[in-house]
Amino acid sequence: MAIRQLPPDLVNRIAAGEVVERPASVVKELIENALDAGARRIEVATAGGGLRLIRVADDGSGMEGRDLALAVERHATSKLASDDLSAIMTLGFRGEALPSIGAVARLTIASRASGAAEAYEVAVDASAKSKLKPSALPAGTRVDVRDLFYATPARLKFMKSERVESAAITEMVKRLALARPEIAFALSSDERTVFRLEACPPGLLDHGLARMGRILGPDFVKDALPLRAARGNVVLEGFAGLPTLHRPNGLQLHLVVNGRPVRDKLLAGTVRAAYGDLLPQGRYPVLALFLSLPPDEVDVNVHPAKTELRFRDPNGVRSLIIGALREALGAAGHRATASLAQAALGRMAPPQGQGVRPAPYGRALGLAEEAQAPFASLAEPSGDTRGSAAAAEPGPTSYPLGAARAQINDTFIIAATGDALVIVDQHAAHERVVYERLKRSFANGGIARQLLLIPEVVELDAEAVASLSAATSELERLGLVIEPFGANAVLVREVPSLLGTSGVKGLLADLAAELAESEDEGGAPLLAGRLDHVLSTMACHGSVRAGRRLAPEEMNALLRDMEATPFTGQCNHGRPTYIELKLADIEKLFSRR
Ligand SMILES: Nc1ncnc2c1ncn2[C@@H]1O[C@H](COP(=O)(O)OP(=O)(O)O)[C@@H](O)[C@H]1O
Ligand SMILES: [Mg+2]
Repeated sequence: MAIRQLPPDLVNRIAAGEVVERPASVVKELIENALDAGARRIEVATAGGGLRLIRVADDGSGMEGRDLALAVERHATSKLASDDLSAIMTLGFRGEALPSIGAVARLTIASRASGAAEAYEVAVDASAKSKLKPSALPAGTRVDVRDLFYATPARLKFMKSERVESAAITEMVKRLALARPEIAFALSSDERTVFRLEACPPGLLDHGLARMGRILGPDFVKDALPLRAARGNVVLEGFAGLPTLHRPNGLQLHLVVNGRPVRDKLLAGTVRAAYGDLLPQGRYPVLALFLSLPPDEVDVNVHPAKTELRFRDPNGVRSLIIGALREALGAAGHRATASLAQAALGRMAPPQGQGVRPAPYGRALGLAEEAQAPFASLAEPSGDTRGSAAAAEPGPTSYPLGAARAQINDTFIIAATGDALVIVDQHAAHERVVYERLKRSFANGGIARQLLLIPEVVELDAEAVASLSAATSELERLGLVIEPFGANAVLVREVPSLLGTSGVKGLLADLAAELAESEDEGGAPLLAGRLDHVLSTMACHGSVRAGRRLAPEEMNALLRDMEATPFTGQCNHGRPTYIELKLADIEKLFSRR
């Protein structure tokens, strides 16, 4: 076949494939243009998930008529005054967004340059450009994008439901609004206000937290640690969520580099390294970090959507972030296990194999009451502390995990067997037990539900409510009966009997995040591939927390449950649920052997 030079409108459609992936990417490009034009207020309105209409209006510098006519041409930009790509301070610089959007939709731009006597408008319909004509806009720029992808039906077919596209737009506007707290943003969808954010006074650490809370959720305001650190001419500022505020995915890790929100693959790993074992495995913290550095220290020209970048000194940036996070977390009194304790733990044996060898059922049941009888708490000494516990109380030693002797810090259960001391992490252990039971009852035809006498109202953000409402029948199979209750709440009518209601809000928020993710990955039904993950999320929210005081009977019941349930040697996050320290090893510690 002969080579041919492609015609410009085909070139634009090809470029659009990279730049304009879905409605949210159009919103992103238009907001970036408004920010580059120095806007103080940006209003976004959409209809039909952005496929019918996207309108972005700003109060920025506007364009003269001549510039407006040029703006929709390919590779036309006002942002590269010289041919130097190493000092880019604007969000845009490629001159590709407007012609790409114009190639796949009906684009109209009205604009009035500041101080100009009149406004102009230009339209592009599937690359066909109109003449410039006068318009009536008082100031700034207004861009309308209608019927997105009507000119590229193949791409249109790949769009998710309006609801999913709307949710992606909301996420995108939030990400940009988080990156620029000094700018006012408003978003509406099908004529309904999604949010309005007023401008923050300058000074991120002093004035920015309320804005972060509007975007990252009110819990973040309570649980955020402000931090600031510098290294040479690189400055890091921001807020890091406490390790207890964790999420099932990294979507709430916000990194803003010179005012540009970026998705950096390194960042997730860096942040997880900094939080270390403060965070359960597979969970991510919530944070908003702002990095400022000279523009020639980063290369933003590595990705058409400009969401990725390269640092000239990635290791320097990495260690700045890790150092600042560690210091903030350390100062908050959430230090990782001290090295002394680590050394001591090194002597203790984690459980071998997959879990406890279940005791023969008959015996275990027969001894159930006996196990509770000789319970002696260290917290309340019984007075009689003479003699060896193991020798004085033969009954409980028959259990692999022994009899509970005490609870430490409302977090760990100390139990004694005949020849060992067992330390159980109550939350990790209970979570695993609940998880295994949920799996079993799901496999056996459905999770038993408990009807709440008074339905519980759980407040959530609008996207979460929408995701959950669209999945009510799937949730019902998981034992959760809910119904929408206004735009920002759901009514919980039934919960899995194994779980109770205490963690239901956190559970619903996590399930909404899971749903949003599974839709993103191609609209596959939630239950198909992620069942284990979902059940494990449920177990996490439904089990005894660290920090709850347990009665002796509860502790022993948990030990017996662990023995009777398979795979209880590690929790759902892969950490051990208990460790066993042989008396022989303890004797060695005290040089008795
Ligand atoms: N909202 C706006 N306000 C003022 N000027 C704008 C706006 N949007 C676009 N422009 C102008 O149109 C040009 C082309 O925009 P675009 O295609 O997004 O490319 P880029 O942003 O990479 O320059 C910009 O360089 C800018 O001069
Ligand atoms: Mg642009």
